[in-house]
This record gives sequence, C-alpha cells and structure tokens, in this order.
Amino acid sequence: MITPDIFDTSSSLHIAAADYFLNCYKEATERHNAFHVALSGGSTPKFLYQLLAKPPYKTEIDWSKVFIYFGDERFVPHTHDDSNYKMASEALLLNVPLVIDHIQSVDTSLSSAELTAEDYHLRLTQQLPRDKQGNQQFDLVLLGLGPDGHTASLFPDTDILQQTKTLCDAVYVAKFDSWRISITYPAINHAAHILLLSEGAGKVDIIHELVNAQETDNKYPIQAVKPKHIMHWFIDKAAAARL
Ligand code: 6PG
Repeated sequence: MITPDIFDTSSSLHIAAADYFLNCYKEATERHNAFHVALSGGSTPKFLYQLLAKPPYKTEIDWSKVFIYFGDERFVPHTHDDSNYKMASEALLLNVPLVIDHIQSVDTSLSSAELTAEDYHLRLTQQLPRDKQGNQQFDLVLLGLGPDGHTASLFPDTDILQQTKTLCDAVYVAKFDSWRISITYPAINHAAHILLLSEGAGKVDIIHELVNAQETDNKYPIQAVKPKHIMHWFIDKAAAARL
C-alpha cells in the first residue's frame, strides 16, 4: 500500500527530501563510515541537489565520506543536455567537496550501451558494500516516477524488467529512440533506504492510480519495486490533486 507524504509546495517537498538525505547520510556513516547514494535523473531532483549544495546540508555533510552513483543515465556524452551526470554535476557535484574517485559516473564514452552497462555493473560490484545477507547495498536510492509508471530507466515493456542477475543493464527506450543504462530491481530493492520524489500536475493520474492500486497489481514498473528495507514517497500537493 502506497501512502505518500504530501507537501504543500515544491520547496517544502525538496527541503524534506534534503533532510531525509541528511538523515540517511548520518545513519550510514554511523554504521559504516561511508554513504553510498544513487542519484535519480530527470528534472525533479535538480532543486534537491541545489539545496544539498548549500548550507546547512553542504556544511553538515562530510562529503569525503559520500560515494555518488547514478540510478540511471542516458547513453549520451556527459556534456549533452540530456545527461543526468551533467544535471547533477551543475546542481551538486561541482559545488561540494567530494572525492573525485568517489563519483561513479556511467561511462557513456564506451562504444555501446551494452558495454557501458557491463562496465557499470562491474564497478558497482567493486564499490558497493554488502548487507548482512551479502547483497550489494546502496545506503540510499533516489527514484523519480514517469507518467507511464517507469522509474529509473525501468520502462514498461522492456527487457530490463526481467533482469535479476546484474545490478544494472542497458535498455533501448523505443518512445525516445534512445539507449539508457539503469540499475535493476535487485539493486533498488536491497537499498537500505529508497526515496521516491514526484511533483507537479503531470503526475496526478499515475499517482492516483498507484495509490489506489492493489498490493498485487503489477501494471507499472514502479510496482515491481519491492523494498527489502525502507521506502518513502514524497510528493507535492499538485501531484496529489486526485487523492
Ligand atoms: C531519468 C530519470 C527518470 C525520471 C522520471 C521522472 O533519467 O529520466 O531517472 O526515471 O526520474 O522520468 O522525470 P521528471 O523528474 O523529469 O518528471
């Protein structure tokens, strides 16, 4: 059952998300002196990333302990306007004192999306800590939500939805005629915390359908996210208009 936290404004939504990010950082660094976080892409998280790059978050976080990953990436150069790396770098990564080697960007300079996904999977297996059951685990995964119920780049009717052997994979998204690399359900579901952020009138219908769906419904990719630990949905009033 999805019960989103609903915030009056976009600003209060993102402040709450920044506070949640900070709390996950504190919990993770107390537990294993590091914070491994997968950033989401698209437009929604940009304001959150800009907030994190300013006090109090910029000053309360020891960024040398933060390990940055990307939940998904478009298979374009990092200089391309569609690049999630470009968006996150401009909003956050270039504005806080991260250790450069702790930023695991998706290497889209490789010759194919498949090779890029293989490379990223290998780096995830090398970098991510493991939980008590031996599963590789992000401390926090940030997710967005598309009007078609996709999250990360887990789009409806794509093969990546069946991928359970690797932590990420390449996916061709026909409606955008473009390739993407995305973390897979195993990588998402084992995260210590998952925070889904969604806002705006464009998400009213999908939010309404998901909140009123049965636990067993599996029409949309987001519904196959089955968190092993903690997941929260933060949405604004505009996206909650039909609830
Ligand atoms: C991406 C995202 C994707 C995004 C949703 C929502 O790379 O596009 O990871 O899953 O979160 O498409 O996008 P908006 O935030 O732009 O609505």
